[in-house]
Amino acid sequence: MNSPLHWWLQDSPLDILSGPELLRNWSLLLFGTEKPAETQIQSTADLTQQLWSKFNTMRDHLERDYMSADKNLQAYLASFYIPNVERTRNILSAPVNAIHLEKIVQNETVQVIDFGAGPLSASAGLLLALNALRGRLGKEAFKCREINICAVERSEKAFSKGLQILSRTACKDVIINATRATSIPAERKFHIALAANVINELPEKHKFKTSMQFAQSLDASSANLALILEPGQELHSRGLADIRDHLCTAEELKNFAVIAPCLHKKECPLSSKKSRNDWCWFKSSFRSPSLLEQIDRKSKIQHTELAYSYISFSTNETAVPQKAGNQLRAIAVSDEMDAGQPDDAEKRLDYFKNNLFTGAKRPENENLAKLARTGTKTKLCAETGDYLGGLRHSESAREKLRRGTEISDSTIFAAIIKER
Ligand SMILES: C[S@@+](CC[C@H](N)C(=O)[O-])C[C@H]1O[C@@H](n2cnc3c(N)ncnc32)[C@H](O)[C@@H]1O
Repeated sequence: MNSPLHWWLQDSPLDILSGPELLRNWSLLLFGTEKPAETQIQSTADLTQQLWSKFNTMRDHLERDYMSADKNLQAYLASFYIPNVERTRNILSAPVNAIHLEKIVQNETVQVIDFGAGPLSASAGLLLALNALRGRLGKEAFKCREINICAVERSEKAFSKGLQILSRTACKDVIINATRATSIPAERKFHIALAANVINELPEKHKFKTSMQFAQSLDASSANLALILEPGQELHSRGLADIRDHLCTAEELKNFAVIAPCLHKKECPLSSKKSRNDWCWFKSSFRSPSLLEQIDRKSKIQHTELAYSYISFSTNETAVPQKAGNQLRAIAVSDEMDAGQPDDAEKRLDYFKNNLFTGAKRPENENLAKLARTGTKTKLCAETGDYLGGLRHSESAREKLRRGTEISDSTIFAAIIKER
């Protein structure tokens, strides 16, 4: 899922949003200069630490409209904005999601809703993902000439800061418009729906209802794509899985299909209702821009590995590509399962069983026992139409296979365990 290019270093003539300009605008907005003094960086890093601990350990201390407080907004922009742009860009650039964007950009006007937009980080990530798509398709095949973003955001200040970063980077032949709303507009429909790091902020009693409104805001009559991104922490990942299960079984959503990371609509084995000692999260490597690195050094918050949990879905099932014949279509959903030393076969067999067999049936499997006796190179993967599967990958695939990696080439596996 990682791009070899650093979007903040390189421009392409086809770009809708210039990465280097976005970075420059971000720095100017934060510090009024591209080369801030150490003292400026230090005082912003101090604010960042305070906001970080409010998010992680003192959530109850977070005011309802915390984004409108200048100190919080400065801290958010400094430490959370760029990583969330990158998380969104990274997820939407993955082929499994980009396939849908490719269909969507056949519309001359693309409608986007960014729920809980804050400073429009997810929208910026989407625009960067569209850069790559436009580069790949070329100017003619990328039909979209106008992108209308409806930012549903409580804080006017956060929205206008985000707009300042984006508006100065607009390209000439694809117009970007962004307006703010304070709730999901019932009368409008969208091709792309984004909700990044906001569902966990909703009061518990509103979570399902708001997520349903969010899903229903998609235009079900055309190709569409929604992304819900949440922090890569157990609490939020399990909460997201609950929402996923709710949407999967909702009668209101007739053509609902999960696109990633799981490739099926069955109950999630890692929701808050389940007791399995794992949760669904991913991480991607990120080479931070140097200014963010300087802020990170002072705030002691690192962004070289970006953790997150997410779900992408469509409400136009007919637009979701199905697995063709025997073609493998899977996503790695775990780190390497290292269940002990190679001679620890029994323990490892138990571990495999607990992690691989999530259905009611837990067959004894000779193949599995054999695999448990050798090596440790096993990862969980979710496969189309199946529950969780396990795979034993070859040594050469080791680095390639990270959480979130899409797998379509079965030759990289020494063995695949497919059990329900
Ligand atoms: C953690 S920030 C996420 C911002 C951005 N999406 C990102 O990922 O960087 C959550 C944002 O959601 C907004 N928010 C929370 N609940 C909201 C609601 N019910 N309606 C509109 N905005 C909301 C907050 O004001 C805040 O700006």
